[in-house]
Amino acid sequence: YPLLAHNTFGMDVKAARFVEYASEEELCGFLNDTKEALHPFLHIGGGSNLLFKGDYDGLILHSGIRGMETVDETDDSVEIRVGAGEVWDDFVAYTVAHGWYGAENLSLIPGEVGASAVQNIGAYGVEVKDLIVDVETIEVATGQKRCFTNAECRYAYRSSVFKQELKGKYIVTYVTYRLGKCPVFHLDYGNIRAELERRGCGVTLASVREVVTAIRESKLPDPKVLGNAGSFFMNPIVPRAQFERLLAEYPDMPHYPVDEDRVKIPAGWMIDRCGWKGKALGRAAVHEKQALVLVNLGGATGEEVMRLAAEVVRSVRETFGIDIHPEVNYI
Ligand code: EPU
Repeated sequence: YPLLAHNTFGMDVKAARFVEYASEEELCGFLNDTKEALHPFLHIGGGSNLLFKGDYDGLILHSGIRGMETVDETDDSVEIRVGAGEVWDDFVAYTVAHGWYGAENLSLIPGEVGASAVQNIGAYGVEVKDLIVDVETIEVATGQKRCFTNAECRYAYRSSVFKQELKGKYIVTYVTYRLGKCPVFHLDYGNIRAELERRGCGVTLASVREVVTAIRESKLPDPKVLGNAGSFFMNPIVPRAQFERLLAEYPDMPHYPVDEDRVKIPAGWMIDRCGWKGKALGRAAVHEKQALVLVNLGGATGEEVMRLAAEVVRSVRETFGIDIHPEVNYI
């Protein structure tokens, strides 16, 4: 089964088998019928965070569970239950159209609703964990339903229990998000506020969505034109003492406090400082506008991208003494 249309890196690879299901019942039935034939399996969403090293000798599952339904509403907020197979940005567009606050900074993030809850997607000072009420799943081993509260998901930066202890054990079917009905904006990350002022368009849900979309489009390559998986690396979180030593050496180093003891440093800035921006190794390259993004110049193999990634990791370690780790999953 060809996977070219199912991974934004544009790897022309195949899977032994591909199954899309349209409902919880269909998924449960399938899990019960194919217990031993399941291995290995990989559940994908929009394929926007994957790097295939080669053909996948197993089963790929994809959710076709759709729907956005209001399940609770008060004077201040609304709770929407969304099928895991909905496109994330369609959901954001829906919240903005209804005048509900909270998701607008996460405009244009590629991928689907199920993955948003596994990956804790985030951008411009907001993470999806700030919106999630609960996550409905099916346990792979038993076909039983289990609902995880936000706390049970143990969210952290680009991580959750579904990427750690329970990896591969549960399949997300629905996610319920809470949005606000009163205006609360997060405009302090990067140049969002400055861009809104420059446009003189006022601060509304629609204008914030437009500005975030425009900033993303200006920095992040369109996968239809240049294969990529967004940020290739996570931003490292380092102890404050280490950060202060680095800041003394690089006074212009951007940084974001995580808590009292730890600071997050943009890997993109370090990779840029190491001189990688726009550089290619074979058919894989570091994006010329955002050094955190690796791109497929056309026909690159997973191995080629991994080789470039390894070189980037090595030079960041040599220059800054920091180990950076891929955010993208190698398959
Ligand atoms: N920077 C450079 N050179 C570069 C890239 C960045 O100097 O080539 C500097 C920027 O000037 C800025 C800082 O590094 O001062 C941070 O850059 P940016 O705001 O572009 O964000 P990022 O830290 O590189 C993270 C997320 C993105 C998200 C943006 C905005 C991760 C792994 N990435 O990137 O998420 O859109 O912040 O919130 O946390 C993704 O996960 O796929 C993704 C695109």
